[in-house]
Amino acid sequence: MSQHHSDEAHDRHFFDTFMLVLGALFGLTVIIYFTANALAESNLDIQNIEETKAQAELQARLAPVGRVATAGQPAAEPAAPVMVAMAPAAKAAAPAKIDGAKVYQTACFACHGTGAAGAPKMGDKAAWAARIKQGNDVLRKHALEGYTGKAGVMPAKGGRMDLPDADIVAALEHMVAQSK
Ligand code: HEC
Repeated sequence: MSQHHSDEAHDRHFFDTFMLVLGALFGLTVIIYFTANALAESNLDIQNIEETKAQAELQARLAPVGRVATAGQPAAEPAAPVMVAMAPAAKAAAPAKIDGAKVYQTACFACHGTGAAGAPKMGDKAAWAARIKQGNDVLRKHALEGYTGKAGVMPAKGGRMDLPDADIVAALEHMVAQSK
């Protein structure tokens, strides 16, 4: 009987300890759960703040450099950092200088280098003097639109319709400079 009683007390004690440990574990779980939640939330806040900052910076970078002033509404000054950021970009975007000599070689040389088809040769000052006297506008027009004279036919753009006007003009200027 006493043995039985002692066993019961032992069981009871074990059960109490077990429940205590279980309760402690449960409490710990709850604490960890809330701590983790709180941490995650504060992290999210930081992320949100950073994202908003990044977005604002992006917007500033994308903002137009110039603004149009309309009557009664003065142009808003673009933010200073935008100007700084745009300065090197604007420089990089400047069109590369066209190499007139190169265009001449590829598009004009066939006739103007050899005198083929009656073309005035580059460097032939006598052949060019009267043509240069006509003025740049006429030369430009004849180079771009073509022209038929006493010597022969100058095709529009020397036949290179694929080239932009600026390339042809650069070649013309090169040719004229070499023929003065
Ligand atoms: C297929 C041959 C040919 C090619 C290619 C050619 N030209 Fe000519 N060009 C001529 C001929 C021929 C004349 C002379 C026409 C005349 O005065 O009778 C001439 C004349 C000119 C003149 C003088 C126009 C004037 O008013 O006196 C200019 C400027 C000129 N060419 C520019 C160019 C340029 C720039 C190129 C290259 C992009 C070029 N040509 C390519 C044949 C050519």
